[in-house]
Amino acid sequence: MRKVAVYRKANFNAAHRLYREDWSDAHNKAVFGLCANKNYHGHNYTLEVKVVGEIDPETGYVIDLKLLNDLIESEVHDKLDHNNLNLDVPAFKNLNPTGENIVWVIYDLLRAKLDPKFELKVKLWETERNYFEYPVN
Ligand code: NI
Repeated sequence: MRKVAVYRKANFNAAHRLYREDWSDAHNKAVFGLCANKNYHGHNYTLEVKVVGEIDPETGYVIDLKLLNDLIESEVHDKLDHNNLNLDVPAFKNLNPTGENIVWVIYDLLRAKLDPKFELKVKLWETERNYFEYPVN
């Protein structure tokens, strides 16, 4: 059976701050720049979820896009949107919410609920020019 990649895009808004508590303010500022600002800042994140699987001969679908959309809603949007990633999202309690870390956290959230028969890849745009991908390859 033919394998096809299915993509679904989504958006969420969230605030974050990049810093380490075990570093001085000066060291945090030197490494993270404006991203270390005490009062947080926001991003409009764009997410692209890629699901690869075989076409079901009965439906012609790889995955019902409604089901994929519901999964993104419940696992990503509901947990991250309009939240402060550092303060409101348990995964980032002791993990810097960089694009690098957010993208694999989102992957893990989706992977836990997605049928293992599908391959999964996640891309995350933090700005128009900066984006992240997990897993690699
Ligand atoms: Ni930022």
